[in-house]
Amino acid sequence: MAKRKILVTRRWPKPVEDRLSETYDATLNSDDVPMSSEAIAAAFSDYDAICPTVSDKLPAGVFPAETPRTRILGNFGVGFSHIDTDAAGAAGIVVTNTPDVLSECTADLAITLMLMAARRASEGEREVRAGDWAGWRPTHMIGTKVSGATFGVLGFGRIGRTAAKRAHHGFGMKVIYYDAFPVKPEFSAETRAEARDSIEAVLREADVVSLHMPGGRENYHLINAERLAMMKPTAILVNTARGEVVDANALADALGRGTIAGAGLDVYEGEPTIPPALLRTNAVLLPHLGSATKATREAMGMMVADNLDAFFAGREPPNRVA
Ligand code: DGY
Repeated sequence: MAKRKILVTRRWPKPVEDRLSETYDATLNSDDVPMSSEAIAAAFSDYDAICPTVSDKLPAGVFPAETPRTRILGNFGVGFSHIDTDAAGAAGIVVTNTPDVLSECTADLAITLMLMAARRASEGEREVRAGDWAGWRPTHMIGTKVSGATFGVLGFGRIGRTAAKRAHHGFGMKVIYYDAFPVKPEFSAETRAEARDSIEAVLREADVVSLHMPGGRENYHLINAERLAMMKPTAILVNTARGEVVDANALADALGRGTIAGAGLDVYEGEPTIPPALLRTNAVLLPHLGSATKATREAMGMMVADNLDAFFAGREPPNRVA
């Protein structure tokens, strides 16, 4: 039987590309040039599977009206708000993602951002590199102590809980959280985390607010000017989730006016473009590195391959989301 045709939209880790090429007639993107939505739309009639990433946009408009050749989208990533899953379902296309394998590294990056923002690490490095450091002095570049402070988690899922463990066990932080869905008692017990009954309650009480909810329509600009105004003037906002969860202009305004102390961001609405207002703030800005370690990116890719293999063998893919 001829091999199934699959399209991999970006360059992936070599061991994963090798595995996919062995099993499938795989079109790889060795130049790693982002594909346009039009090119992805055209691919639905040529490929049995498409393997997109967060850098591909698959809104309803790219999905064909008729049932296409493509049967499955094997997304490389846990977040899939860049894919209109309703439209995929209507076109009879299964969607899978890559949960769990990236929780530790993404949580590590949330803690990195917390510390960088709290200890003004980016500002300090910029000063050193610019040759502007005037030497040690007691009042120079004073930051915020996180040990013993309150770590507020919005979205107490796998990544949020993993970040909470690091904050609690590593820095003795008290953990509070809000999640729209019920949380198993054993999950909060791990960090003696206390539930709050609203986003607002977490925002008012936390010294660090770390975002871990999905992106997409339902959480669009959840953190807006009104909610930012509820945070403490000494508080720090960390976003390793999705850019669209935060209204970037409202955040830049809050940082500029000093109504919150700092922010650490890894994700942006419309990335890789960074909202200009944010560039003028003291926010720590990273280029979507949450899962960017060799082990994690390989594990993510292998998980996509597992999902495709199961699907084409007639089994339920282990990480089906739609
Ligand atoms: C994820 O897995 O969701 C990462 O943000 C990359 O898409």
